Amino acid sequence: MLAIIGAMDEEIELLLAELCGREDLPFPGVTLHRGVLDGVPVLLTRGGIGKVNAAMTTTYLLVNGATQVVFTGVAGGVHPDLRVGDIVISTDCVQHDVDVTPLGYERGTVPGETPAWAADEGLRALARSAAGEVEGIRVQEGRIASGDQFIASREAVQRLWRETGAACAEMEGAAVAQVCAKAGVPFVILRSVSDTADHDAQVDYRTFMPLVARHAKQVVRGMLAHM
Ligand code: ADE
Repeated sequence: MLAIIGAMDEEIELLLAELCGREDLPFPGVTLHRGVLDGVPVLLTRGGIGKVNAAMTTTYLLVNGATQVVFTGVAGGVHPDLRVGDIVISTDCVQHDVDVTPLGYERGTVPGETPAWAADEGLRALARSAAGEVEGIRVQEGRIASGDQFIASREAVQRLWRETGAACAEMEGAAVAQVCAKAGVPFVILRSVSDTADHDAQVDYRTFMPLVARHAKQVVRGMLAHM
């Protein structure tokens, strides 16, 4: 079954409103919603903010029958070409806040884990064609950098760009990716750019987040139409 996760209500509410035959599955800390969206059986949920919530929620989804996972939400643009409203489709995900360098590991590497988790080619292709069908939306495929930090300064965003080459920064994708990879379950992360992770990020995020969350949702609906 396809699982769709967002971190916040604004990221899933438009999909939840359209879910047919909705059944709520409550778990400690999160509720999964099972139903049919555009004719496709899905598990849909708001997992909460940050890597821990994302990992916990993804685990519940997998245990409840998810066989592919799509994350939909917003992000801070890191690639200099990205503008508010653009869509990023993940190529792979990294955890930019991991630092075990004193023990000789590369920055971003969790000991015993791969430094980056690759998104599924099939889901990426589906997202690419769905995004291509949404008029007036610019799409970039690239790396997603996740960490338990809201990036909101020029120095921080430039450092992230230099160190990871990520297209955008958010707080959940790599945790979803890590859990999915362990289970051999394909995933893709879709993000609409709500801000450019610089000194205006807080204001832009609050202004644009509910608006641009719709863009990622449109791509998800497009993917469902082709499943
Ligand atoms: N999500 C949206 N904007 C973000 C930012 N600037 N940093 C981290 N997560 C975000």
